[in-house]
Amino acid sequence: MYRPEGLNGATMFFSKNPSGRSVQSELNILMDYELVALSQLDDAGLKRLAELHHSVMHTLLSDLGLPLVFRYYQVARAEPSVVGICAVSTSGDVLGWAMGSPYPDMINVGLRTPLMWFALQMIRLVFTRPRVLWQLITSVLSSSTQAVSRGSIELTYIGVAPDQRGKGLGSKLLDVFLEASRMAAHRTVLLSVEKENAPAIALYEQAGFKIIKTFSEGRYQRHRMELILE
Ligand SMILES: CC(C)(COP(=O)(O)OP(=O)(O)OC[C@H]1O[C@@H](n2cnc3c(N)ncnc32)[C@H](O)[C@@H]1OP(=O)(O)O)[C@@H](O)C(=O)NCCC(=O)NCCS
Repeated sequence: MYRPEGLNGATMFFSKNPSGRSVQSELNILMDYELVALSQLDDAGLKRLAELHHSVMHTLLSDLGLPLVFRYYQVARAEPSVVGICAVSTSGDVLGWAMGSPYPDMINVGLRTPLMWFALQMIRLVFTRPRVLWQLITSVLSSSTQAVSRGSIELTYIGVAPDQRGKGLGSKLLDVFLEASRMAAHRTVLLSVEKENAPAIALYEQAGFKIIKTFSEGRYQRHRMELILE
């Protein structure tokens, strides 16, 4: 299933590690999953990824509903600058993923197409979850202050299925994401994380990320974190 040239922005990343064995074959020995580029997921895989995102990622995108989560990943899958890696089990379940983009706002803009479909989704929200719509507006207004500078990539999402946590998969996905970002010539990785999300903050700090500021976004208090890639 895995083909290295498909890892967006990171051609040949999985070719060989220093020991001469492919990272992929080591993963196959140690764990029961394959790492697959987001660009290589078919629609069924993308649907599983969207469902996992929707169930574990308690963010505004999930609040907007599964159809918008699926659309987000459709847009991301088609965007060559996106770096995205998914851990897929032998039975095809998505166990975890990490993705990022140097232009995260571009994916959000893509979310609004087709326009009629998007308008219908927003109308649905007005009647079912008006508070979520308000959060969307405040988030759009504040997101311009979290701009991603040239040479940087934003780690937008990383998540692991609850029954797979604590086994090193989150670290593996983050390592692969960072290496892929380095290979794509990004110099800095940025991310935002909720202040209360201790497991994620510990994961990021272990990888060398540092908090550069704390800010409010709607009802959320978030840290902005940065890692300079060597
Ligand atoms: C954050 C997350 C991705 C970690 O995945 P994971 O596979 O459990 O992580 P790992 O097993 O690789 O652990 C790596 C490190 O993360 C930290 N960590 C993971 N779980 C933790 C927990 N429950 N409490 C504190 N630290 C934790 C530790 O530093 C750990 O290193 P250690 O094992 O040497 O102590 C996972 O908890 C998750 O999917 N959370 C929900 C989604 C989310 O919040 N994503 C981040 C925001 S976008």
